[in-house]
Amino acid sequence: MTSALEHLLSVFWLRPETAIWRFLDIEAMRRFEFEGRSLDFGCGDGIFSFIRAGGRFTTEFDAFQKTERLDRFYQNVDVYDAYDESYDPLVASAPSYQISVGFDHKANLLRKAAALNFYKETVEGDGNAPLPFDDNSFGSIFSNIVYWLDNPAEIISELRRILQPGGKICLMLPNETLPQYSFYNSLYAKSKDDQWKWLELLDRGRLSDNVKQSKSDDDWRDIFSSAGLSVSYHSQHLPKMVIQAWDIGFRPMFPALMKMVAGVDPRKLPDIKAEWVSALQMFAGPLAVIGEQNDQSSAFHCYILTRK
Ligand SMILES: C[S@@+](CC[C@H](N)C(=O)[O-])C[C@H]1O[C@@H](n2cnc3c(N)ncnc32)[C@H](O)[C@@H]1O
Repeated sequence: MTSALEHLLSVFWLRPETAIWRFLDIEAMRRFEFEGRSLDFGCGDGIFSFIRAGGRFTTEFDAFQKTERLDRFYQNVDVYDAYDESYDPLVASAPSYQISVGFDHKANLLRKAAALNFYKETVEGDGNAPLPFDDNSFGSIFSNIVYWLDNPAEIISELRRILQPGGKICLMLPNETLPQYSFYNSLYAKSKDDQWKWLELLDRGRLSDNVKQSKSDDDWRDIFSSAGLSVSYHSQHLPKMVIQAWDIGFRPMFPALMKMVAGVDPRKLPDIKAEWVSALQMFAGPLAVIGEQNDQSSAFHCYILTRK
């Protein structure tokens, strides 16, 4: 079986910055295990959790099989929010466990997730509204989307409500350093200095939307404590260098790269992709080693929380 990093680089070969980030998330959450009825809150297309669970795709598969509106990439459109019946995730080996419920607000992403046969059930809903689940109905919950929502404190209470006593939640949450590391936030968001206006194109609405949710460990702990959750594990990953590499990545070329790949002779594509992925490994490997160091200045927290 290929290593998780190598596999992620193959699946996200046109966006290697995503592969490195996802790999570091997988490493950060290594002490977390799904137990009992489980929930992936904000599962998207499910590819991240599937790979984390040890699932593997064939080398022909990538996360860009169904995209649309690439011409509107620079108007901040979610180009992955696309699906039709021909979507085929080309699973090579099944994961070592299943997740009971995948939850997201985008129907197309949930259809992609359902095609993995990894979630027993997918549920569409808005994470900003009361969740459509009973009290005490999950033994374990994972989420890397809480900071995309309007009120993280409210949603953390809501996650606690649906968790059984003694159940566990694993959350990825931004640290207060994240805005200092992102080019858009550190150079343009406050100054509105015209010379940095072009950074809006790089940001594409990502960090400008959710950076307000970046908090210190102490501030997150206050929120957990008020919600009736105790911290059983905490680490920090994604240091400045990795965030800055990710902030640019292959993002600017993405729509053009997609067109280029579509124009390649399909017989030549496997060799080109293999060479591409092995070249990426030369950089991704060392960056990943830097990125996984547990350091208080790193941009993301990983928490494992227990319901008191
Ligand atoms: C950065 S992606 C993470 C997806 C997946 N967990 C992964 O790691 O690939 C954020 C996800 O949050 C979902 N999301 C954002 N706002 C949401 C909301 N209000 N309710 C439910 N899902 C939401 C998006 O549709 C998207 O799938």
